[in-house]
Amino acid sequence: MLPCEHKILFVPQTSSTNSLLKEMAQVSDCVEFLTICADFQTAGRGQKENKWESESGKNLLFSVLIYPHFVPVEKQFILSQIVSLALKDTLDEYIEGVSIKWPNDIYRHDKKICGILIENTLSTDAIAYTIVGIGLNVNQANFESDAPNPVSMFQASGEQYDRKEIVSRFLTKLKQLYSDIQFTELRGKIVDRYKESLYRGRSAYYLYRDDNGVFEAVIHDVTESGYLILKHNDNSLHHYAFKEVQFIL
Ligand code: BTN
Repeated sequence: MLPCEHKILFVPQTSSTNSLLKEMAQVSDCVEFLTICADFQTAGRGQKENKWESESGKNLLFSVLIYPHFVPVEKQFILSQIVSLALKDTLDEYIEGVSIKWPNDIYRHDKKICGILIENTLSTDAIAYTIVGIGLNVNQANFESDAPNPVSMFQASGEQYDRKEIVSRFLTKLKQLYSDIQFTELRGKIVDRYKESLYRGRSAYYLYRDDNGVFEAVIHDVTESGYLILKHNDNSLHHYAFKEVQFIL
C-alpha cells in the first residue's frame, strides 16, 4: 500500500470519535479532513440518540472534520449524499450488494453494514464545521448487542480486511466528491448517482409504515432538502422527513 496521504490520528479508546473531534475543532484550528479513528468507543453515539456498539479492534469507528462554508444550511443534505456515496463506492471495491438506505445508512442486501452520524455546528447563517462520524462493520464475526440487523464485511465475504486501507480509500473518494459538488453540473450527476444507489431502488413496491399505519409504496424521489417522496399504490405522492417513515424489512 502507498504511504497514507491523509491526516489520520489513531487512538486506542475514546468516548466517541465525534465528540473528541468536536472538542479539538472547538479549541484549535484543525486542518480540513482531519480524521480520528478509534479501536473502541465507551460512549459511541448513533442516530436518534441510539448508542453505537462495536467490538474492540474489529471495525472502523472514525470521524472526519470538514468546513463546508460553501454549502447553504438548507442544502446540507448534499453532505449526507456524498458521504453515503463515498462509502458505497469504497465498499463496492470489496464486497457486492451494497446500497444506500435513505437517508444515509449503508446496507449490504437487507442488513446494515455502516451507520453515519453527521453533526453540523452552525454559525449565524452558515455551517461553521461538520463532523462526519462513521461506524463501519469490518471484521466482526458475531453481533450480540441489540443493534437491528447488523452485518459486517467479514460476514459478507468470509475475508478479513485492512481497516487503514479502507479508511484511506474512503477519504480519497470523499475529498473528490466534496470538491465536485462545488460545480453545479457535477453536483447534479452526484445527486443522480445517490438516487440510483438507493436501497429498494425506484421501481418496485415495498412495505413502509407511517403514522397512519402500514402501506405499500415505491420510492419516487428524494428532494434537495432530503425528504423522501414515496408513491403509494393509489398513486398519491407523500413527502417524509427522517423519522416520519419506517422501512418494513
Ligand atoms: C447510526 O446510528 O447509524 C449512526 C452511527 C454512527 C456511529 C459512528 S462510530 C464513529 C462516530 N462516533 C460516534 O460516536 N458515532 C459515530
